[in-house]
Amino acid sequence: MKKTFAALSLVFASIGFLVCQGCARREMNATVEKTIATSLATLRRSAASVDDSLCFPSHGKEGKWKVKSSANWVSGFYGGCQWYAYAISGDSVYDSLARRWTMGIEKEKYNRNTHDLGFRFMCTFGNGIRFSKDDAFRSYCGPVRDTASVTLSHRFLPQAGVLSSDWDNEPVEGTVPCVIDIMMNLEILFETALSTGDRRLYDIAVSHANTTWKDFVRPDGGTYHIVRYDAVTGEVRDKGQLQGDTKESTWSRGHAWLVYGMVVAYRYTKDPAYLEYAKKSADYFIAHLNEDNVAPWDFQSGDRQPDASASAVVASALYEMISYLPEGKERKHYSEWADKMLLALCGPEYFIGGETDCLLDHSVQYYHLGYNVGKPSIYADYYFMEALYRYKSLYLH
Ligand code: GLY
Repeated sequence: MKKTFAALSLVFASIGFLVCQGCARREMNATVEKTIATSLATLRRSAASVDDSLCFPSHGKEGKWKVKSSANWVSGFYGGCQWYAYAISGDSVYDSLARRWTMGIEKEKYNRNTHDLGFRFMCTFGNGIRFSKDDAFRSYCGPVRDTASVTLSHRFLPQAGVLSSDWDNEPVEGTVPCVIDIMMNLEILFETALSTGDRRLYDIAVSHANTTWKDFVRPDGGTYHIVRYDAVTGEVRDKGQLQGDTKESTWSRGHAWLVYGMVVAYRYTKDPAYLEYAKKSADYFIAHLNEDNVAPWDFQSGDRQPDASASAVVASALYEMISYLPEGKERKHYSEWADKMLLALCGPEYFIGGETDCLLDHSVQYYHLGYNVGKPSIYADYYFMEALYRYKSLYLH
């Protein structure tokens, strides 16, 4: 009798648990659907506000976008937001907005003075190739992206095994800098290698990913923002921070670039080491979140003010990463954290779409220089749109 009672309790508890899980998913679906609808309306309205497609949204001020030229590292994100709006909605209005803010980037394809060609060209031309239904336009985008990729590859330093960065606020004589952000260039190199068969680009991406893991990650899992390599021998001469708080702290957006880059490296190589690196770096990120499940701008700083952009990047990366994990405990763990981060960003503290031209408040560009601290940023909005798109593909059919 006792045994039957225990068995029945277990059955009822399991049913209760499954029903609860179903309710949570339904509630989250409703929140995401509402957020998507507001985001789409916001992107339509902001396009009318910005109007000039040679002006590229950068950071928010009083509900409007401050804009930059195509030469700025952020120039691809707004067109990218419009591509995701098109991919989510299928509405041709967003297709034409996406194209408008894509074409103005093309002239950067020969720009050797920047390491950020991946952001600019994958968000715009790269997404055009993925989402446009116009074959002629897609055929146009391919060579543009591939030219940018080859331009970028000139930054490769074989003696160090990495692509070099274009700036260093505290240069050390005889060294070449590399920042963790460059992990976001792997995708463009892998894509061009795939479409053109240029093995050299594939090898550069692999070398950059491996060297970054070896040189930027500390034993506790945290990361440096910058590593300086001897210009001649390629040996590591110095490690530290630029946008983070202190030499031995971890800048959360830099760390987010690492998580995202490792997921991308796994996407193209299927080398299980990259999936392990992605999980390990995500574990560190998750373990250091603020109580509201959003990342502080730097994980060790006394000022825990949030950086919504770092959380948007990792939420999006995790939605891709879980698709590479078999059903089970681990997949459930990372998908729950992706949901927690996305849900936090959809909440009233962060989501300001509808009321302003921007989607997310509270990003931090460069804390110690006082650049855009606690402001909306176009890169937060881009990875947020990507996370919404990935969420929709997984759960909203
Ligand atoms: N790539 C520049 C930044 O993350 O602020």
